[in-house]
Amino acid sequence: MDAARQAELLADAGHYLAGGGTGLFVLPPELNLVVARGEGSRVWDFAGREYLDYHLSSGPALLGHAHPAVTAAVAEQLPKGTTYFFLNEPEIRLGKRLVEAIPCADVVHYTGSGTEATFYALRVARAYTKREKVLKFEGAWHGMHDYNLWGTVPGKASDYPHSPVDSVGVPAVTGDMVLVTPFNDIAGAVAMIERHAHELAAVIVEPLQRVLTPEPGFLEAIREVTKRLGIVLIFDEIVTGFRIAWGGAQERYGVIPDLACYGKAVSGGFPLAVLAGDAEIMSVLDARSRPKSEVVWATNTLNGNPICAAAGCAALDVLSQPGIFEHLHHIGSRLRKGIVESGARHGFAVQTPGEDAVFGVRFTDRPLRNWIDLTQVDKDLGWRWSMELLKRGLLVNPNEKFYISIQHSDADIDHTLTVVDDAFAAVKRGA
Ligand SMILES: Cc1ncc(COP(=O)(O)O)c(C=O)c1O
Repeated sequence: MDAARQAELLADAGHYLAGGGTGLFVLPPELNLVVARGEGSRVWDFAGREYLDYHLSSGPALLGHAHPAVTAAVAEQLPKGTTYFFLNEPEIRLGKRLVEAIPCADVVHYTGSGTEATFYALRVARAYTKREKVLKFEGAWHGMHDYNLWGTVPGKASDYPHSPVDSVGVPAVTGDMVLVTPFNDIAGAVAMIERHAHELAAVIVEPLQRVLTPEPGFLEAIREVTKRLGIVLIFDEIVTGFRIAWGGAQERYGVIPDLACYGKAVSGGFPLAVLAGDAEIMSVLDARSRPKSEVVWATNTLNGNPICAAAGCAALDVLSQPGIFEHLHHIGSRLRKGIVESGARHGFAVQTPGEDAVFGVRFTDRPLRNWIDLTQVDKDLGWRWSMELLKRGLLVNPNEKFYISIQHSDADIDHTLTVVDDAFAAVKRGA
């Protein structure tokens, strides 16, 4: 471990990796790091610095890093081979486990990433309903494919049902297929769904949209209107699945969709995601029951590979143990409350919207109900505060989410709240 080696690696990353990293998230050079290893709630960089991790790889490390149950399951599978394409025992075992756990699931289909899961969910819905358009909510993040990159981060209220494209390179024609409406606006959403019912295959929703909780009656209303009009309701549970409750958002909010997408925590930090749902709708994937020309294509080489599936089985074994979700709630609620109190002590209006296991820290005293509300928070303050946390060894993604793992302890929260307080003080001083 040494700072020189980290500097060398960062220089190589800047040189050889497109954009110098893995995506849109870029830290300032003086705070940038290369992770050398992770264990439990912590990671260490190549310069030897220890960080308490509240990013958890953007969610997958719900069990903490290198959980012994997951590493043992993977180590057992590794010498037997890493991928066969033909059926393997761990994927069948995991499939049974998922169907038992996920409220809407009669069957599951594996994919490699959350993006693929939502992409195929929309294709399945189109094949089933024989309609083509889909509706999403303004500010919802469903991954990187062309049908999702409309209205994810608009700077101002959209011209509903049209919303601006998020990324260059997305064909304009895909925008004709995507309708956008505000989250938590029951009347607006129901009216738009009714107006476009003749052409709508699916409504896709993040039940906890980023850090916005659904207001009472919102998900219920979406469920009612889609059921009444024969439109497939898709819950994107890629963040919420096995995190905000064992049965995910479906259990937490008491609404059952037709299809649901799972990723991140579902496979213990390994690249596997899942489309789960109703047997009749999912039968469009079934080459046993229909001519090949009528089957949805959703086959990828590494789907359900035994390493990821073995990791998933081990992760679900751990998460199903008594007390796990109580612990996540306890730790997360302590941290949320502590951040708000610390902010108030230093004169900052700060909120921690979301659920205990995953929440945001937003600088505003206005209510947060939808995406447009989120665009009006003080992001500059959020960035400066996050930089102070990073300097003090808390790994966070500025203006995004805090993720809690089952390994975060009360002692971690005691330490974190001291750091949080110092960070507020530093921001106030203008450091
Ligand atoms: C709610 C939600 N859906 C879908 C995705 C896309 O998943 P992936 O990054 O695995 O493609 C994400 C990623 O952050 C997400 O948060």
